[in-house]
Amino acid sequence: MPVIYQQDINQETKIAIWKIEEEEDFFLDFVPINRSIKHPKKRLQHLAGRYLLQHLFPDFPYNEIMIADTKKPYLADHKYHFSISHTKDYAAAIVSSSCRVGVDIEIPTHKASIISEKFIHANELQLINNLKNNSDINYFNTLIWCAKEAMFKWWGLGNVDFKEMLRIDTIEVDNGITLHARFIAEHENQSLKLYHKDLDSLCLIWVAS
Ligand SMILES: CC(C)(COP(=O)(O)OP(=O)(O)OC[C@H]1O[C@@H](n2cnc3c(N)ncnc32)[C@H](O)[C@@H]1OP(=O)(O)O)[C@@H](O)C(=O)NCCC(=O)NCCS
Repeated sequence: MPVIYQQDINQETKIAIWKIEEEEDFFLDFVPINRSIKHPKKRLQHLAGRYLLQHLFPDFPYNEIMIADTKKPYLADHKYHFSISHTKDYAAAIVSSSCRVGVDIEIPTHKASIISEKFIHANELQLINNLKNNSDINYFNTLIWCAKEAMFKWWGLGNVDFKEMLRIDTIEVDNGITLHARFIAEHENQSLKLYHKDLDSLCLIWVAS
């Protein structure tokens, strides 16, 4: 079973990454698909992400998934909060029965650097410059991007200015990386702690709060 990473964050919140090596039929035996995704690779990613939801919590009710106007999938009764991300041959999902969650996975490339001006605040640039071992700028730009995508999904209501409203205040590099962030909105300012893991060339970031 190609779960390459799983963490039970606590009894109510779990996260996992699946490396996709199966054909579509494998997932279709378990996961209903009720919208037409044409591109075969995107279908596989979508199915693998959904598959992880029941892998993490076997009673996760697939048939009750709704899609908001913002495209965020959710359960109307909030029995579980969940968030999904996919890239290349990987899918990640985080599920929680107690708090809102957001996850993003990315493979660090120069892509985040190309658009860095759009989402990195001057203070965050300073933060990266102050870090020791900061020579791989593509890596750190991807890290910030990944963190902000996870925050965007945690928020779930769309209409977010990544540069101004999603702010990384500190990046703690110890055994792993922890980011302290703020979501700045008119009616809801919230401090968020984001957790990071590097594995199999992937950058994984999640928030549960
Ligand atoms: C929605 C968004 C976050 C998805 O990110 P992505 O890197 O394209 O794709 P990922 O694989 O990481 O995530 C896709 C999953 O996110 C989830 N998702 C989609 N829209 C969502 C939303 N509004 N809120 C939370 N989750 C959402 C879905 O589960 C989706 O997977 P599924 O359709 O298979 O279920 C992204 O497309 C987006 O809109 N980002 C904001 C862009 C922006 O405003 N940028 C400004 C700064 S440059």
